Amino acid sequence: MAKIIYLDNAATTQTDSKVLGKMLPSFTKEYGNASSSHFFGKQARESIEKAREIIAKKLNSSPEEIIFTSGGTESNNLALKGLFFNSRNRELGKNHIITTKIEHDCILNTCKWLEKQGAKVTYLDVDNQGLVNPKEIVSAITPSTLVVSIIQGNNEIGTLQDIKEIGKICKKKGVYFHIDACQSFTKTPIDVKKHNLDLVTINAHKIHGPKGVGALFIKKGTKIEALLNGGGHERGLRSGTENTSGVIGFGEAVRISKTQDINKIQKLRDYFIKQLLKIEKTKINGSLKNRLANNINLSFGDIEGEAISSHLENFGIVISTGSACASHTLKKSHVLKAIGCNDLEINSSIRISLSKYNTKTHVDYFIKKLKPVVKTLRQMSPYATT
Ligand SMILES: Cc1ncc(COP(=O)(O)O)c(C=O)c1O
Repeated sequence: MAKIIYLDNAATTQTDSKVLGKMLPSFTKEYGNASSSHFFGKQARESIEKAREIIAKKLNSSPEEIIFTSGGTESNNLALKGLFFNSRNRELGKNHIITTKIEHDCILNTCKWLEKQGAKVTYLDVDNQGLVNPKEIVSAITPSTLVVSIIQGNNEIGTLQDIKEIGKICKKKGVYFHIDACQSFTKTPIDVKKHNLDLVTINAHKIHGPKGVGALFIKKGTKIEALLNGGGHERGLRSGTENTSGVIGFGEAVRISKTQDINKIQKLRDYFIKQLLKIEKTKINGSLKNRLANNINLSFGDIEGEAISSHLENFGIVISTGSACASHTLKKSHVLKAIGCNDLEINSSIRISLSKYNTKTHVDYFIKKLKPVVKTLRQMSPYATT
């Protein structure tokens, strides 16, 4: 097979060699349990606390407010279930969650499950660019509202929400504000104080860190219940022997993240979009202005995204045709549906997501290979009009 051109970085990223290098001693030499009181344990504890400090600094939080988890899915579960059960235990009568129709499945399925436990959930609409109207959040808040949970940067269409404005609303109304920042962390500034955030979900594998590790920022004073009972690790909020290697890798991935890389990716994305739009009948999904630096979501209108993807695979090009996390279910993208795409637009969509390892040569190669693929598929398509 040809050399791989990996353009599915919203699904996961290549682990940076610096990250791997930093992690290796924790497998081979410094493999103590961070809870052990001997020097081996203390060594591991120190490494974990160093990573916690790096991550806390990036969010402008205190290290004590960072709880390590197994990833974005667990952090999102802990945020919503933890708040809900704490509120229920204290009989506060706050059982209302406000979220959107374009969340990642781990939020939507947690909400569906919580509805069975007695939660009331409002799933807000978004406009045709994927933006939530902050005024609709104001209208949705009732005396029983516990939390507003919003995806900051959408994993499919890349739309970035105005978290500053939503944070102000939540603070004024006295409701918790949680963001799922798995796609946006290190790509766009997150300041938990400036943005009035109570809970923030992040993970490592989207930012050139290892898989299976994430964190939840929980603002001091937030009343939340643990989901796992055990040895009381992570301030009693996440029992279980710490994933020392993963946490070290997460910290290093954050430490080496650079604004210059993001600026470079964004420039490449804009060049890429320009080339893609030269192809007849292509349409970008999501907001062009408020968009993750590395995301392109595109519809071709009359040919299958899956067919485009498998043809490109023959040339070593790897993309996605929707949310990779959900693609095994083969269901139509709920995000594209929510922004008003019709079935043809949904079926003909592809997602390209860039990383710091991509270059203009990759983009030019992609376009060169894509054009004849589109032409051939259109000649065979029953929907093509030309
Ligand atoms: C927006 C968003 N939230 C949550 C997740 C889940 O994260 P993890 O794979 O670390 O469980 C993902 C990963 O695809 C994501 O993109």
